[in-house]
This record gives sequence, structure tokens and C-alpha cells, in this order.
Amino acid sequence: MTINSLAKYRPKLHFAPKENWMNDPNGMVYFEGEYHLFYQYHPNGTTWGPMHWGHAVSKDMISWEELDIALYPDEHGTIFSGSAVVDWNNTSGFFPDEPGLVAIFTHHLEGTEGKPSVQTQSLAFSHDKGRTWTKYEGNPVLGHETKVDFRDPKVFWHKETEKWLMSLATGQTITFYSSPNLIDWTFESEFGEGFGSHDGVWECPDLFKLKVEDSDEEKWVLIVSIGDNPKFDQGSFTQYFTGSFDGSTFTADHDSIKLLDFGKDNYAGVSFSDIPDEDGRRIYLGWMSNWRYANQIPTEGWRSQMTLPRELSVRKVGENYKVIQKLVEELDSYFSKNVDINECVVEGTKTLELDESSVDLTLHLERVNADQFGITVHHTENQYTTLTFDQAKNALVLDRKHSGQIDFSDMFLLDQEVKLDSTNDVKLRLVVDSASIELLVNDGEYSLTSLVYPDKACEAISIHTSNGSIKARGYVSSLGK
Ligand code: FRU
Repeated sequence: MTINSLAKYRPKLHFAPKENWMNDPNGMVYFEGEYHLFYQYHPNGTTWGPMHWGHAVSKDMISWEELDIALYPDEHGTIFSGSAVVDWNNTSGFFPDEPGLVAIFTHHLEGTEGKPSVQTQSLAFSHDKGRTWTKYEGNPVLGHETKVDFRDPKVFWHKETEKWLMSLATGQTITFYSSPNLIDWTFESEFGEGFGSHDGVWECPDLFKLKVEDSDEEKWVLIVSIGDNPKFDQGSFTQYFTGSFDGSTFTADHDSIKLLDFGKDNYAGVSFSDIPDEDGRRIYLGWMSNWRYANQIPTEGWRSQMTLPRELSVRKVGENYKVIQKLVEELDSYFSKNVDINECVVEGTKTLELDESSVDLTLHLERVNADQFGITVHHTENQYTTLTFDQAKNALVLDRKHSGQIDFSDMFLLDQEVKLDSTNDVKLRLVVDSASIELLVNDGEYSLTSLVYPDKACEAISIHTSNGSIKARGYVSSLGK
């Protein structure tokens, strides 16, 4: 493998492993000035295989330093997804001297002929800021006699009841367990039947409380990923529920399906644990891929990258509570604001020439009388991705059919669509990196995350209209100081 092939499509702003296969983000935790990102990792190949936890650290969640593998398979199985927490009060007994990290993860023991796979939850702890780990001698700490899908523990300290709370994916439900010490777990409740989408297996839950913007109200949010399933145009995707949680039971406000992302490439995302109260942010990132084609994406020597980190909040829109995503402000210092788009009327096409580096575009578009309008990201002369605001459908459609390498999956060719309340007045934030487009609409109300595989990130951006005009204003920033 040449350095060039490893470099091709390598993101400038997103975490990707130097080599080999990665999937879900795991064990995301902030501790002593570092953000830790562990991840599902197969160190011996570029497709999914026996899982380990890879490890990277960062001061700002954008530039990551890859460290040694944190967790290796053992006699209880390979290491599936899970979380990490700081045990500040030594509830576990692992930290007689000073607080440290505990990882809570799934051990997956592959079935043999006639015997199904077994998934159990286990612990490991670290006294040296996650550099080395000791598996708990009493592993596993939580199993189930009949459930085959029993995985992805996400644990947090529930202040009100002073106990640890675990959300666990259990088939097509989420089961909550509690514990005083991370070792002994008690069943609390099970949520999910009759709620949301059941198109596939439920995976990678996360439960947390968020402030509702511009109010004193708070909402609990439960994120649930849904595995690949027979629907031709779907693959894997992420839904969420808003509701309340009393320390034992989650009560959803709705039984309808709420999507966290309208693109195809944001899966298994969860949030960081232990971000200090004075910071107060709830920060999430996902695996920027889709199980339908994750093993086929056209990179060589490495596979997969994470989304950019996003700060979450809840906004009340009409009677509906929506999870809002904003790119973390740490991203801003990687860009220099270099082209202002002063308010102008666009009729036909307006093009902004850029260079080939990654770009961050903020745009406010108001319809004057155009039927349809949109933006084209020109990766190269012949490779482009279009975003079209369609008045008849009241939708924003991303088309990546001409974006570069596309022939590795039929589903990759399908349009990705967000239904909007209106396309008359839209605000867009668009970050284009070497192999991705992340789009946030109306101050984070909708997210659309999409992989693309062009030869270059972005040479130009054009705004275009058909049958009439729009008003546009904003700015484009390119990578670099
Ligand atoms: C989600 C998932 C998890 C599991 C892991 C295995 O993408 O299927 O449920 O723990 O990946 O790699």
C-alpha cells in the first residue's frame, strides 16, 4: 500500500483511523483536559472483524491523536460497543487513591453450531488516563439467559437518585438498569414496544437531559440507532425520543418516529460523558457510515470516519420538541473567514471559486419568486453534489450521483431528502471535507450527513435558481489560518 492510497479521501477535519476498520464511537468521555474517543476497531483488516476498542485523544475534538488499542478480545469474547465514565467517588472500589476511568462494554461471544451468540456486559478500569486498562476479574457483570441481542451499555451517574444508570439495547427495546457501584446491576424498566421505528434491531442507546432553548424547561432525550434492514432505500439510521425519566422509567412524549439525521451517514452516535458542569454542553458524534455499504466504501488501507462533534439542545417548534445539532465552536478556529457573500439577488447562477481545501459555508437564502433553487458543491470540474430546495415538495434534496466514486452500492445513488416546514427562508451551514458533506438547516433543526468520494473536496460553490430569483447572503471559509 502506498502513502498516496492511504491519503486518498482522508478527512482533514474528521477522525479516521490511520489504518484498518473502524465503526461505532465508544467510551466517549472527558477527563483531565482530554476528550477520549474509543471506537469499534478491527486492527487486522479493512472490513468488520473481531472487535477491539481503538483509542484516540484530543484537546478540542477536531485534531485527534491515535493511541494504542485499549481493549483486546479475551476468553469472554470480542469487545463490542459501550461507554466510559469517571468514577469520581470510587463507587467501584477500583480507585482508592484518585479518580479514574471505567469502561463498560459488551463482550460478544460468537455462537458455534447449535449454540447462539452470547452478549454480556463487562468492565475495565484505567489509572493512567486511559493509556492502559485492567479488565475486572469478576467479568461479566450483567448477562441475560434468553436475549441474544443484549448490548451497547451507555452509563451515566443519575444525580437525583445517586446511582449509576445503564441504557442497554435489548432486541427492539431499550432496557434500563441501575447500580450503586457499576458492578451489581438491577433491572429498572424496558422501553420501546409500540414506540418509534422497529425496522431493524435497536442498538447504541444514549439517555440524557437537555435544556429546552429559551425556557426553563428540560427534556430527557433517548437516542436509539436502528440496524440495517430489508428496506431498499434505508440502511441503518438513528431515531430519538423526547420525554421524561424518573430514575427508573423513561416516558416518551410521542410514539412517532423522529429522525436524528436525514442523511444516510450518521449512525451509532452517542454523547461524551463527564463534560464539566461549567462547560455544560452535551456533545455528540456519530459513525459517518451506513451498514448497508460500510464494508464497501472506496478507501484503501483504512475504512470509516466519525462525524464532526455536535452540541445538542432541544427546541420547541410548535407543539413538537426537536433535538437541535450545532457544530462545536472549536471547529471555527480551523477556518479563516475569507469570502463574504454580501446580500445579493441571484437569478440563474452565481459561482464562488474556491481552492480544493475543505470549506465551511453559512448561507441565508430567501425565495423572491424562484420555483426552485439550490447549491452545487463543485468538487472538480466534472464531479459535483447538488442541494435543491424544491417548492412543490417543500423539501431539500441532496443528490450525490455525480459526486465521484459511487458504484460500490445501489443505495449510495439514491437521493437524500429532508422535508422542511417551508423553503421560503432557509439558513444553511455546510461543511465539506475530503469525503463528506455535513449539512445543518435552520440553526441545527435538521441535519443531513452524507459521504462523498470525489477527487478533491471543493473547487467552487454555486448558487442557482430556476424560473425566478432568490436573495442570498452569508460567507464561505476555507481550511487554514
Ligand atoms: C452498531 C453495532 C453495535 C455493536 C457493534 C459491533 O453499529 O452493531 O450494536 O456493539 O456495532 O461492532
